[in-house]
Amino acid sequence: MSLNRDIKTEMLLAWYDRNGRTLPWRSDPTPYHVWLSEIMLQQTRVEAVKEYYRRFTEALPDVRALAQAPEEQYMKLWEGLGYYSRVRNLHKAAVQIMEDHGGQMPPTKKELLALSGIGDYTSSAIASIAFGERTPAIDGNLLRVYARMMKEEENIKTGTAKKKAEAWFLKFMPEDRPGDFNQAVMDLGATVCLPNGAPECGRCPWKEFCRAHADGTELRYPVIPPKKERRKEEKTILVLIDETGRIALRKRPEKGLLAGLWEYPAAEGKKSSKEVLSAVRELLGGAAGNSLPSGFDVLDLEFLPKAKHIFSHIEWHMTGFAVWVRKPAAGEVPLQWVTPQELSETYAVPTALVKYTEWIRDRFKITE
Ligand code: ADE
Repeated sequence: MSLNRDIKTEMLLAWYDRNGRTLPWRSDPTPYHVWLSEIMLQQTRVEAVKEYYRRFTEALPDVRALAQAPEEQYMKLWEGLGYYSRVRNLHKAAVQIMEDHGGQMPPTKKELLALSGIGDYTSSAIASIAFGERTPAIDGNLLRVYARMMKEEENIKTGTAKKKAEAWFLKFMPEDRPGDFNQAVMDLGATVCLPNGAPECGRCPWKEFCRAHADGTELRYPVIPPKKERRKEEKTILVLIDETGRIALRKRPEKGLLAGLWEYPAAEGKKSSKEVLSAVRELLGGAAGNSLPSGFDVLDLEFLPKAKHIFSHIEWHMTGFAVWVRKPAAGEVPLQWVTPQELSETYAVPTALVKYTEWIRDRFKITE
């Protein structure tokens, strides 16, 4: 035991020597093996990676083999792992290593960062595990362990929190085993300091030093801000029906939400039946005032059911009206007027509007 090491370092490494996971890439941690495993482990569970790692290293045992492999081969070896840009970048970086580094992986975090697909976390993992550089590899596990140890109140997803975690781990990272230190904290996070309300503090080598454990607040950390609220949009959907039973549609813009799909015209906000008249006027290109553009008449109005649709960042809160209009006998008529049958068979209307589409189908007895 070296005298100037922190007690936390000693206890963690002793714990790791007894309890660290036995993983295929740990038995022969060549730079290529470490690199490949770290890329595979991004967004993928250890158990799922093992078999892929075995097949990949068997087929392409080193950087040169990977650099020379045809696309179909490395894509096939990755089939089912997902996030295929990972393997494309892996191949690109292998070519870079052959061309710029004589086939040897560069040994420093700084140089590794210049390779395709290698970012802050991966460069630190490779530099520490394969080359012994003292650099913390900050992943979700390290962040959670740090947040509980220090009762970090900062949102753990921020750059500031990450910098603090990095500086904190660096203090305890030993000269002789930086890679083991990183992997020990990863294993601690993955098997003991578990997320989602399930830490097993009784088995933790750092429990005596953990500020959150000291006052029983483990579950409050890491601080993760609630997901951003979705923007709520109120809309009044207008099912315009002409005297021949045609329905008005308009095409959504080619970019953005529901790009290029057809929809019923709508007015922003929640309109009363009185306000609907001017909304219809606007849609039909009428002049100011409450009267309809020449030739159009509103014959009748009917309330339609409310509806709500949730997209990833937006919610639509909808009310609706069916509006029976008489179209002008001549002149340009805005909007696309289609029969309910055409609507059903030809026009792609988003699911968000399904309540109104169903109302139309019901009303006009459309069956598929
Ligand atoms: N997750 C990603 N890389 C890891 C490693 N080297 N050890 C344990 N868990 C990991």
